[in-house]
Amino acid sequence: MATKLARICLARPFLRTLSTAPPSHLTLLGQQYPTDSITNISPTIISKLPLRLHTQPFHPLNTLRTLIESHFPDYAHLSSFSPLVTPYKNFDELSFPTDHPGRSVADSYYVNKDLMLRTHTSAHEIDVFRSGKTKWLLTADVYRRDEIDGSHYPVFHQMEGARIFSSDASGMKEVEEDNARLSQHLSQSNILIEDILHITPTNPAQPSHDPRHSELVAVNLKLSLNSLLLHLFAGVAGASKEEPLRVRWIEAYFPFTSPSYEVEVFFRGKWLEILGCGVVGQATLDRADVPHKMGWAFGLGLERISMILNSIPDIRLFWSTDPRFLSQFSNTDRKISTFKPYSKYPSCFKDVSFWLPLGEDNKKIHENDLCDLVRDVAGDLVEDVKMIDSFRHPKNNRTSLCYRINYRSMDKSLSNEETNALHSGVVSRLQDQFRVEIR
Ligand code: DAH
Repeated sequence: MATKLARICLARPFLRTLSTAPPSHLTLLGQQYPTDSITNISPTIISKLPLRLHTQPFHPLNTLRTLIESHFPDYAHLSSFSPLVTPYKNFDELSFPTDHPGRSVADSYYVNKDLMLRTHTSAHEIDVFRSGKTKWLLTADVYRRDEIDGSHYPVFHQMEGARIFSSDASGMKEVEEDNARLSQHLSQSNILIEDILHITPTNPAQPSHDPRHSELVAVNLKLSLNSLLLHLFAGVAGASKEEPLRVRWIEAYFPFTSPSYEVEVFFRGKWLEILGCGVVGQATLDRADVPHKMGWAFGLGLERISMILNSIPDIRLFWSTDPRFLSQFSNTDRKISTFKPYSKYPSCFKDVSFWLPLGEDNKKIHENDLCDLVRDVAGDLVEDVKMIDSFRHPKNNRTSLCYRINYRSMDKSLSNEETNALHSGVVSRLQDQFRVEIR
């Protein structure tokens, strides 16, 4: 994604060139599932399914989860939903259009055409609302095919949160009282929140909602999340009265909310998107059999927030089992500690140039296919992958691509032999899997 949460909304071309057939069945979390022509879940991804970092004691993502949960003590705290969902749950039930790019096999992991890895925690919204819960938080691992760099990883963690009220006068009175309470609580501090209008012609109330009710609910959403952001970020190192931490609200679009917003935090010279939210689409609540309710929901990216709060410089570190990483968080449940990098080991850049196959097979390799292949060979020893050259031969019309792969371990120096072995593994898989001609 431009940023993690928004990427799902970007259009991407998709062409697939896997020439090796997947096995007829995959074993996922102890159960067997048939594969089909769209299966694209890789061994590296399968190995992540049981890990559930957000529930591992003392892991920074677990600490962050419990910290946020402690801010919403009277909400239900859920964290054991399976990552395997139907495309219907992930997309259709939430009103995603049938041609939404997030559905493509280039962007999402499919076990088969009827089963996928959830791309966001919103996939469970309807089930949780249907179970009768009116205030809840749900944390889970989510999966998106993506490029490789220091802030993107194909598995990350989101927390979904929601609160719904009766849409009659008594429910709206509850919202008003809560708004008054929250406004009072939000006092001045070293955090600067840039706000926008709650409802505008481009970010409207839903037709079935009384606009005054929609406004009250949107204000409740913003106050509740600003209060969380203060709780999380007010003590962040570097933020001071002179240079406050900057947070901004911007208008957004999600198929299942209106009005919708995103929240970004200014960090190391860039605005980083950390959450998406909005007034829950009435269709969602109708499908969940709670048509007389209205309310708000949000989905936030735990890695993004933890990288800011704990000063974690590379997203791969969350998967590290190195005691030098884990021990830094070992006695700090519910308390954020600042990560002290133990060392930065040298990078080793290797380029690979190849001609795309001609004729029948002359399809463009999707960059996400290439990244999955590199991760399958090199795991977390690859830091980033960038295309550095692309050209079409004027005479024979063949396309040549050159990728630069940066191999770097977070735990040790890689020897030349190790890097060469990894790189030749990548090169031979490229030849086998994509039938490219190495230059
Ligand atoms: N699921 C969205 C994403 O991953 C984030 C989101 C947006 C969650 C709006 C919500 C919401 O609950 O109301 O991009």
